[in-house]
Amino acid sequence: MKKFYVTTPIYYTNSSPHVGSAYTTILADVLARWHRIKKEDVFFLTGTDEHGQKIQESAEKENKDPKEFVDKIAKEFQESFSLLNISNDNFIRTTNKFHEKEVQKILTELYNKKYIYKGHYESYYCVGCEQYLPESDLKDGKCILHNREPELRKEEAYLFKLSKFQNKLLNLIKSDKYKILPKERKKEVLSFIKSGLNDISISRRKEQVNWGIELPFDKNHICFVWVDAFWNYVTGLKEKNKFNKFWSPDIQLMAKDILRVHATIWPALLLATNNKLPRTLFIHGYFTVNGQKMSKSLGNVVSPSYLVENYGADSVRYFLIRNISLGQDGDFSEEALISRHNNELANDLGNLVSRVLTLAEKNFSKGLKKSQVDKKLFLKLNIKKIDSLMENFEINNALSEIWKFVNESNKYVNEKKPWELKGKKLESVLYNLLESIRINAILLSPFIPESSEKIFSQLNQKPGKLKEAKFGLVKIYKVKKEGILFNKIEGEKMKNPKSEKTENNLDKIDIKDFNKLEMRVARIKEVGDHPDASKLYILVLDLGKGEHELQVVSGLKENYKKEELVNKRVIVLTNLKHAVIRGIESQGMLLAAVFKNRISLVQPDSDIEIGARVM
Ligand code: MSP
Repeated sequence: MKKFYVTTPIYYTNSSPHVGSAYTTILADVLARWHRIKKEDVFFLTGTDEHGQKIQESAEKENKDPKEFVDKIAKEFQESFSLLNISNDNFIRTTNKFHEKEVQKILTELYNKKYIYKGHYESYYCVGCEQYLPESDLKDGKCILHNREPELRKEEAYLFKLSKFQNKLLNLIKSDKYKILPKERKKEVLSFIKSGLNDISISRRKEQVNWGIELPFDKNHICFVWVDAFWNYVTGLKEKNKFNKFWSPDIQLMAKDILRVHATIWPALLLATNNKLPRTLFIHGYFTVNGQKMSKSLGNVVSPSYLVENYGADSVRYFLIRNISLGQDGDFSEEALISRHNNELANDLGNLVSRVLTLAEKNFSKGLKKSQVDKKLFLKLNIKKIDSLMENFEINNALSEIWKFVNESNKYVNEKKPWELKGKKLESVLYNLLESIRINAILLSPFIPESSEKIFSQLNQKPGKLKEAKFGLVKIYKVKKEGILFNKIEGEKMKNPKSEKTENNLDKIDIKDFNKLEMRVARIKEVGDHPDASKLYILVLDLGKGEHELQVVSGLKENYKKEELVNKRVIVLTNLKHAVIRGIESQGMLLAAVFKNRISLVQPDSDIEIGARVM
């Protein structure tokens, strides 16, 4: 049996899943399901990348132990993928012990083979990317992707001899033995490699980063998160005893942000350890939201669970694939999702199924027998073309091609007007239409699995494989209509979609709700260290004459020195339920603007009365 191994990048657990990570994972899922209906042996791997400085910092910011922090987010990814009906065969987490041991084995092998050596390293590093950046990648001294100044690192480190692989990689990529698609991405990578590959640092001393895998040959160093992460593609199989059967990946999906490392460090690590290279990397574009970059700080990150809750998994899957030309950047807008849901899923497909099944159930309750196959209809279906589009990873084009046939089937209904027919003539038209619905359900099963299953169940047929996508296979249909496939989205939601809810599923609130907050101007009277948390202060706030003082525990230490805080006027939320933070009671919360690592306290003018209410 032919094998098919597909991977997604493993996602950083520094923040919750969003539409971007859902997109790559849905694409991979569609490919996996397509190859399963072709009766191939499929392994589909996804997972989470849980080490490194970025995650260490995010955990510290929330005052959490890093393991506890990543456990929570990895669970969110798993839940989100399960809501989207993702059919992965393993979910690899880089903090799992098996993975950590395998990475150490490979590090030992590379060290023994002298591909890793001790030296000094000096370069700019962007924590957002978790990558060293050449100066040509900086704009006004900042990382273009993260708008953040990189750190200049000069330090003792272990280096990997990447330079040694420059020519080999050039040849492998040029000749498509290591295939990079689309072609423009291949060109881009070739010119990057031609500009020269230097050896790279693959470790940091523990004083700098400690959240990672220890180098087996030097306990003072932690392995660079990318080396650890790449190996997931191997350990994800080994963990399930599937390495021998499935290595190497037939297709690895990712966005352009991580192409360079996947075209250089990753294959070099495989060559150095005598492992076969993956066949193809497919690089897709980036999602924007209503034309803007998707980012936490802009507050426009759309959560997949919110979308599934409101529109259903199939509509989200269908929309994400159909609306974006694979390889290009694309925009996410909830209005566009609703429009495709209503016009294509509910109208085109939903109505086709509903019209045909209603007539078949009403007129042929004892069974509708096979009739002559109508060439007029089946010649409109080009399965070879659909399959070849899927084999070339033109997933959105394959979906449009399938949709053409859904629309041809609708046209057939309109032309034949079965509601005006009776007896044999009616039976024959309905038979052809039921066959077209069954075939559509097979072809669409990788894209909208839940709805396909519902169709099979109403047709009283087992879910089919691609080979069964042929007219005239079913001898008798005893159908049973069961409700509506896609409910149209109308009324309030239609008028007022999205951004009513944000990433955190925050509803718009009423002024009455806002007025429940009691916020006051306060003066910071005293600042002390929290005895049990290195990043927290304990503040005593003065709320004016005759008022109680408030004690507030606050994470300001990285942004303010004690002397900068004393006597500062701030705004405090005073009617928050009291909380105990690491053993100390906190009776309120200060208002602050937060951007990346920077926290800036909101301050009223200095002549405003202490205790004044904030409206
Ligand atoms: N952990 C690394 C990957 C290691 S793989 C050995 C990483 N993680 S990530 O969480 O930043 O995920 C990057 C991937 O998520 C992208 O390559 C892409 O597949 C997906 N996307 C994240 N944001 C996206 C968009 N806005 N649009 C499309 N895909 C996006 O890099």
